[in-house]
Amino acid sequence: MAYHIAIIGTGYIGLVAGVCLADSGNQVTCVDIDEAKITMLREGRSPIYDPGLTDLLVKNKRHLHFTTSYNEALKDADVVFIAVGTPLAKNGEADLQYVEAAAKSIGAHMLKDLVVVNRSTVPVGTGHKVEKMIQKVTSYKVSVISCPEFLREGCAINDFMHPDRVVIGADDGHEYAVSMLKDIYKGVSKNDAKFVVTDLRSAEMIKYASNSFLACQISYINDLVRLCEAVDVDVTEVARGMKLDKRIGEYAFLNAGLGYGGSCFPKDVQALTALGRNAGRPLPLLETVEKVNDEMVELAVAKVQKLLKITEIALSEARIAVLGLSFKPNTDDTRASQSVKLIEALIKEGCANLRVVDPIVHFSKEVERAHGKIKEINGGGDILDRILSAAKDADILILATEWNDFRNLDFEKLRDVMRHPCFLDTRNVYSKKEVEQLGFTVENMGRK
Ligand code: UGA
Repeated sequence: MAYHIAIIGTGYIGLVAGVCLADSGNQVTCVDIDEAKITMLREGRSPIYDPGLTDLLVKNKRHLHFTTSYNEALKDADVVFIAVGTPLAKNGEADLQYVEAAAKSIGAHMLKDLVVVNRSTVPVGTGHKVEKMIQKVTSYKVSVISCPEFLREGCAINDFMHPDRVVIGADDGHEYAVSMLKDIYKGVSKNDAKFVVTDLRSAEMIKYASNSFLACQISYINDLVRLCEAVDVDVTEVARGMKLDKRIGEYAFLNAGLGYGGSCFPKDVQALTALGRNAGRPLPLLETVEKVNDEMVELAVAKVQKLLKITEIALSEARIAVLGLSFKPNTDDTRASQSVKLIEALIKEGCANLRVVDPIVHFSKEVERAHGKIKEINGGGDILDRILSAAKDADILILATEWNDFRNLDFEKLRDVMRHPCFLDTRNVYSKKEVEQLGFTVENMGRK
């Protein structure tokens, strides 16, 4: 069955849900307070990049509406999805101001009984608060349930259409809302969805616990990097051997490297840590996870210094080329990007000549202005030319984000254009020995 769905927020979560739900035949209205975004979306242009997103936006324009008006969004809605950001507040907790604003607006504009599905990542207990806030300002009945988002940037459409599981959190008395949401998901994933139905609070915890566990895996393997180097072991082989254990699994997050970034893991690890502290049940393991992640940038800076020692060039005189700015491949998102943190750390240490290349990210004007030391090689030319011009006369080439465009580098050409053929592979894409054979001095994160 097709529904009238209103979605609040047109960030990653909201926009991806919007285009996918429209693609399965629902009438979807996305509402956002940002007029510029709504104008772009009405013109069929996506404010964010993710593979396939613009195609679905254009394909489903008959079923998809964009507005800044809650009245318009809610007038026919059977169900409302809250998909607004929950950034990190200064005290390390999730900042709920956008969720609360959405709740107030829903209460003020709803014209009939409503099901409200919360997709935003929120601390345990938020769903109950939202229900109370809405109910306080309306005489219609509202049913708030939780359905946390598990999609990954860079493959968001596929993850939405084919989720590993759909977690639904609902308390007794909300059975109608649960069956409506199941029906919507069955339409999206062609009856393939695996549902996990829990109470509201447990669903909220499942989201934080999942993201934090994945971050734990990354910091665990990253913590082994220095030990592997010290005892002459290849960390990528260790991870490969571990993943074949079904209890660990082939999809485990065990790619050692520069660490995790993005809009989710850093903030969710901190928010869960804060939740633990506030509940009088601290989570020391998670506090270490964040610390290890920060240390990976420091380790990369130390490796740059090590390479420069060989070339006998001071960091202030060195020319460094960096490949990749986004926090992971296939996205233009640079939020909490470890690559950006590495660039900032190098500048802080005195590096004055940096060139950066990314297949799609343009370094924001503010960052460029603030540092003035970064030359962006993103305009014009194909990516191979841009890599070569960034590397021309450089002393070190750093691979910071493992885009496919950087997986088949022409090391012979690079060696010929660089002042010193030094390579720092922070994502362990290449075999050290193979690149060394092509005349490079190589550092990586624990790979032989
Ligand atoms: C993450 C989760 O994977 C999603 O399930 C979740 O829905 C999302 O957060 C969210 O909360 O909205 P995302 O941040 O898009 O998704 O990206 P991931 O693919 O999980 O990668 C996160 C970071 O970990 C990236 O910086 C990536 O480079 C890094 N990473 C990942 C590693 O360093 N090693 C790995 O083995 C895997």
